[in-house]
Amino acid sequence: MTSTSAPSNQACLGCHGAPGLARTEATGELVPLSVDRHALKSSAHAALPCVDCHRAATALPHRGRLGKVDCGRCHYVEPLPRPSPQGTPASGPGVHQRAVEAGVREAPICQTCHGDHDVRPADDPASRVHRSRVQETCGRCHLREYSEYQGSVHGVALAAGNPDVPMCTDCHGSHRVVEAAAADSRVGPGTAPKTCGRCHDSESLTRRYQIPPDRLATYRESFHGLANQFGSTRVANCASCHNAHDIRPSSDPRSSINPANLPKTCGTCHQDASENFARGKVHVRPVRSESMSLWLVSSGFKWLTTTVMIMLVGHIMLDLNTRRREWRKVRGGGRHRDDPAI
Ligand code: HEC
Ligand code: HEC
Ligand code: HEC
Ligand code: HEC
Ligand code: HEC
Ligand code: HEC
Ligand code: HEC
Ligand code: HEC
Ligand code: HEC
Repeated sequence: MTSTSAPSNQACLGCHGAPGLARTEATGELVPLSVDRHALKSSAHAALPCVDCHRAATALPHRGRLGKVDCGRCHYVEPLPRPSPQGTPASGPGVHQRAVEAGVREAPICQTCHGDHDVRPADDPASRVHRSRVQETCGRCHLREYSEYQGSVHGVALAAGNPDVPMCTDCHGSHRVVEAAAADSRVGPGTAPKTCGRCHDSESLTRRYQIPPDRLATYRESFHGLANQFGSTRVANCASCHNAHDIRPSSDPRSSINPANLPKTCGTCHQDASENFARGKVHVRPVRSESMSLWLVSSGFKWLTTTVMIMLVGHIMLDLNTRRREWRKVRGGGRHRDDPAI
């Protein structure tokens, strides 16, 4: 059977539609070659001819290996290096792309994360990159991070259907994942506070879940936060004290910020941090219950500002009143704005 025009899906399925079609590798491994029509029909690619993806099967019977499908032929997703105004590349490929190019066998390509015949849009709950499944997709290769995340406050909440907690891709991105140390990482020492702070300084979010507010603002006012803003990478950022993945509330005995564990947490950087040292508050809000002295200073300033404002407004009113009376006096003396004599 040889044809001149591209073979139809029907022709391909004549063989590959049969269940049980398989190839036996030299190693004895059985590679299934039958196509799950249902998966393909309900995928994002239902309308594509087989040969649009399997380009080497242009004539039947096809021979030899057909080669990997090149998804990039139709989808442009990986941002390529673009020259910055200075002429140097502003951003190179991410870690995964670099690992693929270096021939690392364990590195993910499009198919690894999206599937082959069952590719679906990201907002489809059956997609491998849907909110509810992407952790598993990344976790296949990053087991330690996955298991820590699953036990964390965010992971537990996500499993319970919470739509507001971060998933792997909220913190790392999806197509251009970079190392934490890279300048454009969202989880590096300079950027993690902003990434966590997006949610933990949000008034509506912290109120909805009744969790302590203003975490970014209070961090920025702390010693670590100030040094961090001046570019220090040695001082603590959110992840140094809370962990990157195994994040738990302070009430949890396994939490890095549980009072019993604080000497150890601070101790990773402050040699022989005593219990007393570790008790030093990090997130201090100027409310009376958290810090009396800060509250006094802060409310002192509030009163001082208010008093000064009242005095200023009073002064202006008095001044205006005086001017008005003087003007009236002048007008009463017979000279008027409309007087042609003026
Ligand atoms: C006459 C039966 C037949 C038809 C028709 C047929 N194939 Fe195949 N196909 C096979 C067999 C047999 C193999 C295994 C070949 C091998 O391992 O050497 C195979 C292997 C494949 C593979 C795996 C190749 C690889 O490199 O591992 C793909 C993909 C494939 N076919 C796609 C298609 C497409 C697309 C069509 C339609 C254009 C098609 N086939 C039509 C019999 C068929
Ligand atoms: C959106 C692109 C796309 C379309 C359309 C598509 N395939 Fe595939 N197919 C793949 C990918 C991806 C793989 C996994 C191997 C790879 O990465 O090349 C694959 C694998 C296969 C294999 C090897 C067995 C396996 O499951 O690994 C066969 C046989 C096959 N396809 C046949 C078909 C046939 C027949 C059609 C049409 C009815 C079809 N494909 C349509 C992308 C596609
Ligand atoms: C021949 C061109 C072609 C190839 C090759 C191809 N796609 Fe697609 N892809 C499409 C088209 C067309 C759509 C449908 C877009 C739409 O419905 O708006 C699509 C949709 C998608 C979607 C859903 C996007 C959305 O917005 O709904 C994903 C994800 C996707 N493709 C990933 C892949 C992956 C992964 C591969 C490789 C296995 C691949 N594609 C290969 C053409 C292609
Ligand atoms: C490390 C895993 C991973 C790899 C590798 C990957 N993707 Fe994705 N992709 C994702 C995730 C996760 C999303 C979900 C949307 C988001 O977070 O941006 C996505 C979204 C998409 C979408 C949009 C889907 C939609 O419904 O909006 C397309 C199209 C797509 N990817 C194509 C590709 C192609 C083509 C490649 C290979 C060049 C690829 N992806 C490689 C993880 C990956
Ligand atoms: C709330 C934000 C956040 C989420 C969600 C998150 N990460 Fe991370 N991740 C980080 C931070 C911060 C670091 C940097 C840790 C450091 O400085 O060493 C990191 C580092 C990593 C690293 C580098 C190695 C390491 O452990 O230091 C990998 C791999 C990783 N994450 C994978 C994942 C995977 C997989 C998921 C989902 C299961 C995930 N991350 C979810 C914030 C996050
Ligand atoms: C198929 C396996 C695989 C999958 C799936 C995968 N990764 Fe990776 N990842 C790797 C490999 C391999 C590296 C490179 C490791 C290296 O070079 O040391 C890497 C590197 C990373 C790094 C940088 C680690 C470091 O040392 O700083 C992060 C962060 C990361 N991946 C996050 C993710 C996220 C998020 C996802 C899901 C969207 C994901 N990975 C999916 C294999 C995978
Ligand atoms: C996408 C939004 C989002 C991001 C980003 C985020 N979180 Fe959260 N976080 C939440 C939500 C929502 C909760 C409440 C979950 C619940 O109680 O069900 C939470 C809970 C917490 C808790 C427990 C609070 C308590 O009192 O129970 C800690 C600690 C925490 N996050 C730290 C972090 C750190 C550190 C980062 C950055 C590495 C981070 N979060 C990034 C949304 C986020
Ligand atoms: C130097 C260590 C340290 C740094 C840096 C740090 N925190 Fe904290 N964080 C703590 C400690 C200790 C607590 C518990 C006592 C308290 O509330 O002050 C806490 C409490 C929290 C809580 C409430 C959790 C609970 O159960 O009480 C959240 C949410 C939180 N921090 C988020 C963040 C975010 C977001 C950042 C970065 C912008 C950050 N933290 C930076 C040490 C730190
Ligand atoms: C990632 C490392 C790291 C962690 C974790 C860390 N710190 Fe620090 N901290 C530093 C560095 C670096 C300085 C700068 C001063 C120095 O070199 O000693 C500093 C300075 C300080 C200072 C002001 C200067 C001083 O030495 O008195 C206090 C107070 C402090 N840290 C308290 C804490 C507390 C409390 C914890 C635990 C909740 C903690 N730190 C966790 C790195 C860290």
